[in-house]
Amino acid sequence: MVESVTVRAPCSTANLGPGFDVFGLALDAYYDQVQLKKEGKEIRIQSMDSIPTELEKNSAGLVIKEMARKFKIKSGLVIKIKKGVPPGFGMGSSAASAAAAAVAFDALFKLKLDGNSLVQYAGIGERASAGSVHYDNVAASVLGGFVIVRTAPFDVIRISPPKDLVLCVAVPKIPVPQKKTEVSRKVLPKQVKLSDHIKNLSNASALTAGFMKKDVFLIGSSINDIIVEPARKHLIPGFDKVKKNALRAGAMAVTISGAGPSMIAFTSTSSNPKRISDSMKKGFSEAGIDCTVAICRPSKGATVI
Ligand code: HSE
Repeated sequence: MVESVTVRAPCSTANLGPGFDVFGLALDAYYDQVQLKKEGKEIRIQSMDSIPTELEKNSAGLVIKEMARKFKIKSGLVIKIKKGVPPGFGMGSSAASAAAAAVAFDALFKLKLDGNSLVQYAGIGERASAGSVHYDNVAASVLGGFVIVRTAPFDVIRISPPKDLVLCVAVPKIPVPQKKTEVSRKVLPKQVKLSDHIKNLSNASALTAGFMKKDVFLIGSSINDIIVEPARKHLIPGFDKVKKNALRAGAMAVTISGAGPSMIAFTSTSSNPKRISDSMKKGFSEAGIDCTVAICRPSKGATVI
């Protein structure tokens, strides 16, 4: 009888410009690992990383608590979490742990849940950090590749990204508020102009077509968000400089990764990603901020290892 399962789940970038709360892309830059083990009488979290270990305050803990309740699991469980995704920087850190937890629970108890159900369970974990449920990061971490989250009716559509898509991520070393996603959602407009909605919708549609057609240039030229990015960019010191530098260095598009403060540039194998990531680092450094850069590719989803 299997008593323990370990799952590795990738980080992700959400929104990809115009697809706020709808688009996600799994990235091979960082991974979280969750081991789920039947042990004792209670559910508890173990980690060497500085993350909350109360079930309700941890995205993986919330997922396991809810799944154990739903599937009437009586045994105790130990959730061992190894963080690889930097928490609080817009790289889908809470989502990676939540996705790994949902997939581990499914494997340990042989539930054979489908992709949509796994994403919905993983989404419960987002409440721990965002204060509300959104599925773009968890969908990417569970399923891998590029994902479109439709909420009514709930359905996640996965598309394999083009092989020549390359991403440059810059993670600035700045202090982030504890509930950063919640904070960065509060600055967003409650209502948008119809003409702005049309512009974002047309870019979002073109971006989807770009993934379907495996056309990196169509993807790049569609990453243009006139609703969320302008409302959030003041939260990222050096934003304009980083974006300008990366575009000058050959990036097709640059935007905020998820709720930020990381920034992400979209490029292709035919460009010079090192030059682009160096230019992003320089942009942050001109604003007096150090940053970590990663050149990455789309990743597959959460995997039992
Ligand atoms: N779509 C979410 C947001 C992602 O931008 O708030 C959070 O990582």
